Formats: sequence, structure tokens, C-alpha cells
Amino acid sequence: MINIALFASGNGSNVATVLKKLHKKSLNVGLIVSNNPEANVLNIAKKHEVPTLIIKKNEFYQTEKIIQNLEEYKIEWIFLAGFLWLIPHYLIQKYPYKIVNIHPSLLPKYGGKGMYGAKVHDAVWEHGEKETGITIHYVNEKYDEGQIVFQTKCKLNEIDTPDIIAKKVHDLEYEYYPIIIKKLISGEKV
Ligand code: GRF
Repeated sequence: MINIALFASGNGSNVATVLKKLHKKSLNVGLIVSNNPEANVLNIAKKHEVPTLIIKKNEFYQTEKIIQNLEEYKIEWIFLAGFLWLIPHYLIQKYPYKIVNIHPSLLPKYGGKGMYGAKVHDAVWEHGEKETGITIHYVNEKYDEGQIVFQTKCKLNEIDTPDIIAKKVHDLEYEYYPIIIKKLISGEKV
């Protein structure tokens, strides 16, 4: 079974969905990496008995220590789910086209540094967009600019609040991220 790592900094609802739908069935989530020792995703990891690694900024950017951790767990793919730090060059080189992110908008719209979580949905709402969606993309050294693997949309109504927009987008994420992860690791066409 292929071992993957999930990188997450926050709530971890996408991580929970991947664990529920894929873990120990289609793949093994070998490691959950977080930069935030308080993140709820660590509770989710504990519940599913998945090992965790808390990383510190200087270590992540000034050393390549994490490679040893990833090798220890035989990690072949890395999927980001609400991980807010830029992925350093050495890691991208070590995992070419094997690091993937999910972003809660139709990139290139509403992406880039600082565009995450509610900020994305607030901006979509402020611009009166008629639709939004999700983007799953390979990770490169710039925020949200790697090659797009998959996008899907949802329609927005005039009465939709940012919270409703967030809910619609999260529902798309829960439905499609596990499907796309499964396809990518098995080499299927997306
Ligand atoms: C998701 O909306 C994902 O697209 C983005 O960060 C959010 C993480 O949410 N990259 P959660 O922690 O999975 O609930």
C-alpha cells in the first residue's frame, strides 16, 4: 500500500475525510505533519492512530531534517490540506509532482499569500461572484501557482453569505479530494 503524508495547520476536516474514505483501504496515511501544536488536526490524527510530526519554522527552512522523517515512514506522496507555509525548494525537488494542494477557490482567482480559509470566501462574496469552487494543484515554490490537476465549480446565489459559500466549497472538497488523491497515487487519469 502506498504511504502518504498529510500536511495541515488547522481544523483538519479534509484530513478527517481522507482518513475516513481512504486510510487503510486505498492507501496508508503514514504521517500527519503540522506546524501548529494546537491544531485540531492533531486530535484527528490521534483518534485514527496516525503518527504526527510538529515542525518548527527554522528547522523546516534551514535544514532538510524532515526528509529523514518522511523516509522513515516511506512516504511517497504529500497532500496539503490547509497547510499554510510555503513548501521549500529541497522538498519539491525530493518529491517532484508528488506534492499536491487543495485550494478553496477557482485559481488563479483568490489565491496567493494570505488567501486562505474565510479570507477566500469573504473575497468571493465581496466581489459578488456567481460561482466559486475548488482547485487541486501540484505544489511549486509560489503560493497557489503550481500546475492545476482538477477544478470543479458550484453556483452561488445572491443571498449566499460567506458562511454558506464556505459550506458549499467544503462539501466539494470532501467529495473530490479523496477521489483525486486516489486517482493520482494509482496513476489514473484525472
Ligand atoms: C480547506 O478549505 C482547504 O481548501 C484549504 O484549507 C482549508 C482547510 O480546512 N487549503 P480544514 O482544515 O480541512 O477544515
